[in-house]
Amino acid sequence: MSTSRTRVGIIGAGPAGLMLSHLLHQAGIDNVVLENRSREYVENRIRAGILEYEVAELMRATGLGARMDSVGSRHDGTNFLVNGQLHHIDFQKLTGKHVMLYSQHEVVRDLIAARLAAGGEMLFEASDVAVHDYATDKPYITYIYEGTEHRLDCDIIAGCDGFHGICRQSFPKNMIVEYDREYPFGWLGILADAPPSKDELIYANHKNGFALLSMRSPTMSRLYLQSAPDEPLENWPDERIWEELAIRLAHEGFSLTTGKIFQKSVTAMRSYVAEPMQTGKLFLAGDAAHIVPPTGAKGLNSAIADVAILARAIEAHVLKHDHEGLENYTRTCLRRIWQIERFSWWMTSMMHKFDHHNAFDARMQTAELDYILNSSAGQVTLAENYVGLPLY
Ligand code: APR
Ligand code: PHB
Repeated sequence: MSTSRTRVGIIGAGPAGLMLSHLLHQAGIDNVVLENRSREYVENRIRAGILEYEVAELMRATGLGARMDSVGSRHDGTNFLVNGQLHHIDFQKLTGKHVMLYSQHEVVRDLIAARLAAGGEMLFEASDVAVHDYATDKPYITYIYEGTEHRLDCDIIAGCDGFHGICRQSFPKNMIVEYDREYPFGWLGILADAPPSKDELIYANHKNGFALLSMRSPTMSRLYLQSAPDEPLENWPDERIWEELAIRLAHEGFSLTTGKIFQKSVTAMRSYVAEPMQTGKLFLAGDAAHIVPPTGAKGLNSAIADVAILARAIEAHVLKHDHEGLENYTRTCLRRIWQIERFSWWMTSMMHKFDHHNAFDARMQTAELDYILNSSAGQVTLAENYVGLPLY
């Protein structure tokens, strides 16, 4: 077995692990990223595409803004379509902030490029990753890389290995309390070679179910339809998808641009939080600790918020021997995470069709939308959560 040493061993090269690696490097703290999939796989994984205001600012402040600002686009507002009536929410006017539309896989590509340019150590296709002795001051990680067993000694292990990773599962039995909500629906998502039919997103509440119009570029649309959580894709030939999108997104003056669909998938939806996010020298961040349904696009943003907090805490611990940030990591993150969980759950509840709703529940949903979209206080609530709560 070959042995090496670093300050922080990071497991997972999603947005959480890569951003943590980048922030630590900028603070002069050496680290190694271990990822079990290939670089190609992580760089092409299709996910959401909205960056909160402060997340985009963090990208810029740490030298990652160039491509985001050239191929991404700034969105000063968004649209809600209810009963065929379009309501525009003006983020800029309501909060003085905006969001950036920039795909998660582009963020991942930028982060990998930045880490490589800085000589960062990232190992893709590392298998059998396992964490050891994290309850002591000498934690280490073992893994297999290119057929050889390796041991990586470190001071801190960051579990950024997503919902199905091994880090959360390595916590002592019965230590973690899980909070979970599964929704009785999923999103059927498509990518299509079709110019976006609108300059900003449309979140639609329709009697047939939710729909979302989003985009990736001036020639590529990203669209979603509420479906069953396990909806067979065979049920949805391209023509049926376009027909249903046209029905759910219909409103005055709107016409849906169609085109070749080149990607189609169904995502089940859940809310999930694991508490605590740390044990000894092992710290969880991102999807490894919490999941949100995609309504409001908070997944990537909350992963970045965790690692911004973790990087600061590690920096204080390593460079100033100030351990408070690390000791309080769970508490600091969870306060913000529960706000994001609440927002994502609320957006999901307000915008979807629930089969078990009775007539009263349906009226409550309509009344809530009416209030939120037509009162200035309601609009501010929606906008300030959408553009993102402060990172720290
Ligand atoms: N060993 C090494 N790497 C692992 C292991 C393992 N045993 N298990 C999982 N991984 C890797 C995955 O292959 C993945 O690349 O950890 C990474 C976790 O990345 P993400 O799932 O993207 O999670 P995170 O970085 O927290 O980002 C959260 O991703 O799932 C979306 O909507 C979510 O936008 C949010 C964001
Ligand atoms: C997306 O563009 O993929 C997207 C946008 C907003 C959401 C979810 C997904 O709320």
